[in-house]
Amino acid sequence: MAETEGYCGFLCFLGGFTALYYLLKWSWACWRGFKMYLLSEIWHTDLRKFGRWAVVTGATSGIGRAYAMELARRGLDIVLISRSEEKLHRVAKEIESQYGRQTRTIQADFTEGQSIYLGIAQKLEGLEIGILVNNVAMNYARMLAHFLDVPDTEQRITQVINCNILSVTQMSRLILTHMVERGRGLIINLSSEAASEPQPMLAVYSATKIFVTYFSRCLNTEYKSRGITVQCVAPFVVSTNMTNNVAVNPLVKSAASFARDALNTVEYSSFTSGCLTHALQHIALSIFFPAWVRHSQFLVRRMEEYAQSATKYIEERMPQTHSKEE
Ligand SMILES: NC(=O)c1ccc[n+]([C@@H]2O[C@H](COP(=O)([O-])OP(=O)(O)OC[C@H]3O[C@@H](n4cnc5c(N)ncnc54)[C@H](OP(=O)(O)O)[C@@H]3O)[C@@H](O)[C@H]2O)c1
Repeated sequence: MAETEGYCGFLCFLGGFTALYYLLKWSWACWRGFKMYLLSEIWHTDLRKFGRWAVVTGATSGIGRAYAMELARRGLDIVLISRSEEKLHRVAKEIESQYGRQTRTIQADFTEGQSIYLGIAQKLEGLEIGILVNNVAMNYARMLAHFLDVPDTEQRITQVINCNILSVTQMSRLILTHMVERGRGLIINLSSEAASEPQPMLAVYSATKIFVTYFSRCLNTEYKSRGITVQCVAPFVVSTNMTNNVAVNPLVKSAASFARDALNTVEYSSFTSGCLTHALQHIALSIFFPAWVRHSQFLVRRMEEYAQSATKYIEERMPQTHSKEE
């Protein structure tokens, strides 16, 4: 009898302890979410404290352009880096006329690999760079696709790795050196929700994005004590060319509103979904689509079907899709 009572007491203690553990864990997560996504709308960091200039890669459209505009609105001068000279000048003019900030443009194609960084370094020389946004990235197919079905696979793989991985590491190397000398700086690296779990049908893209996540988190730990903040931003869907300008709705953010929310989270967290709706989707996805579901053959077949019908749909409306951001 006494033995049974002792056993029940132990189970009660274990149950109570587990309940308390989860209560504290979820309360802490809610408090952090509240601070990061709601309180940050009122109290956010004055980004000018990091330095006068911000450098944004892939700055002529989508999230990169939105970061550039928002940083200028918050008082920074902007260096824009992208492939197209014409688009660069257009965005630079917009920034100068709307926010009265100075701009510089650097034309570079990040798929070209190592050779471009010496030129970029020379053009950045002498600028007090407080913020680097490593935004540029590309997917290797217009839609979800099996690895070997990507058109021109051999060349495309190298381009994606150069653009998504090499750019982040080399641009960080160039700019972090000076940030460390000055003892302050902010690096924002764009990862993706596609890196939260290995993502079949987006194999190379998803793998490049988990590289960005790990690299950012390691750098943040290594350089925090030297006054450098490295933040990794992992969005869900934002309406841009990369997502075929899908319509904005409560789940899909516009690039402008995403950049505004994400910049508010600086110094609240070194790893963020960027905005509340994307954070909630991240939680929902991990509950309702755990890894074993995402990697099931059933889901892969559904993704194949989706990719086929979506590709057909996009091809039919392609002219409108691409004129939007032009
Ligand atoms: N959109 C989303 O839903 C989403 C979700 C998760 C993560 N992300 C991440 O967010 C970042 C931005 O995505 P986005 O949707 O804004 O992309 P996007 O609409 O395709 O814009 C990409 C930008 O990069 C430039 N660019 C592309 N290839 C380049 C190259 N080889 N060299 C130099 N510049 C190049 C493009 O300008 P030019 O064509 O003029 O060069 C453009 O300014 C990426 O890191 C992406 O992985 C996006």
